[in-house]
Amino acid sequence: MARNVAAISISAIKEMAMRSAGVEGALSLAWGLPSFRTPAHIRAAVARGLEADPDIGKYALPDGLPALRQAVARTHFEETGIAADPNRQVMITAGNMQGLNALFHVLIDPGDEIIVTDPGFASHFQQIRLCGGTPVFWPLDEASEWRLDIDGLPELVTEKTKAIVIVSPANPTGTIFSEDELRRVGAIAQAKNALVLLDDPYCHFTYENRARYFNLSSVPELAETVIYLFTFSKIHAMSGWRLGYMILPEHLKREVLKVHDATIICTPRISQVAGLAALTQDPVHIVEFEAVLARRRDLICERLDRMGHLFEYVRPQGAYYVFPKILANHDNAYDFSIALLKETGVAVTPGSAFGPSGEHHVRMAFCVSENVIEAAFDRLEQAFPG
Ligand SMILES: Cc1ncc(COP(=O)(O)O)c(C=O)c1O
Repeated sequence: MARNVAAISISAIKEMAMRSAGVEGALSLAWGLPSFRTPAHIRAAVARGLEADPDIGKYALPDGLPALRQAVARTHFEETGIAADPNRQVMITAGNMQGLNALFHVLIDPGDEIIVTDPGFASHFQQIRLCGGTPVFWPLDEASEWRLDIDGLPELVTEKTKAIVIVSPANPTGTIFSEDELRRVGAIAQAKNALVLLDDPYCHFTYENRARYFNLSSVPELAETVIYLFTFSKIHAMSGWRLGYMILPEHLKREVLKVHDATIICTPRISQVAGLAALTQDPVHIVEFEAVLARRRDLICERLDRMGHLFEYVRPQGAYYVFPKILANHDNAYDFSIALLKETGVAVTPGSAFGPSGEHHVRMAFCVSENVIEAAFDRLEQAFPG
């Protein structure tokens, strides 16, 4: 087997999802797969397209349908005030995983380094290793609610550093990094000639912290430093459609296009038709999704509060994950999670999957229905009476 493939494993998120699928009556808080259905107006646009558009089953241009790239440029302008050229700076991807994969192919030579937060999104680490790179872990500060340790960043940057990956609201901690923190990350990256890859699946799930959310790609001076990646997976409940977009400097788009063409040719056109509806019609569902998720966040925090003997947690500011520390006797988060599934039928993701600082934690995704959250915690309370 190729060395880079031997060096990685399927992420513990998916491993737990697959394990729990094999357990009768399992309740899963493991996978960040929202319970929401793709909104009706998006489904209807695709249904109309299937009937009326003779090209809907065909390849699209490698960088995406022109109409979708224009809609992306408009959306990005509304959200950041930055005018991206739809032809030169917008790239349609098959989701942020695919977009990042193409970028890592472009950026990484064997042994190059990509800085990732620790804890951070498990699949980023695997993607970097798959491309022959090394993820360099940048520990978040749990004692100050999983903030970025900006002072610790410069010493992690070496001549091999190609990029710093940022997710805010973050997975798995739910932290929304402040404008000041993010600007400082941008300045450090720029000074060291590294890129910031802003992977942004959760931008509209910010609850009472809307004002705290800051999109670093809105800083004009960082236009050559920051690459912005948006995915339709979570905000538009389109995870199975595999659709996202990138805003990136023209010279990098040219390189990404080569990888894209050599790997997937184009993002599925039918998904791009869905994305066009998502961006051009009133996204009434977003407010609704966020309100439902806010209720679920209250519920899971309430249930965690009742289990203070087992878990200690920081209330998430955004996204839909909570990342409690395990207080019960245990060896490691992986064995704890496997035993938990076996004994209670409740699936969580071991925190160690999200980096060394995630050890002795678990990630719970509260994008599942209230019933699942209630039933899972009923079982936990039974298994670990206070
Ligand atoms: C931080 C982060 N990036 C990327 C993804 C996957 O995005 P996509 O479905 O667009 O590939 C997720 C999904 O959980 C995520 O949390």
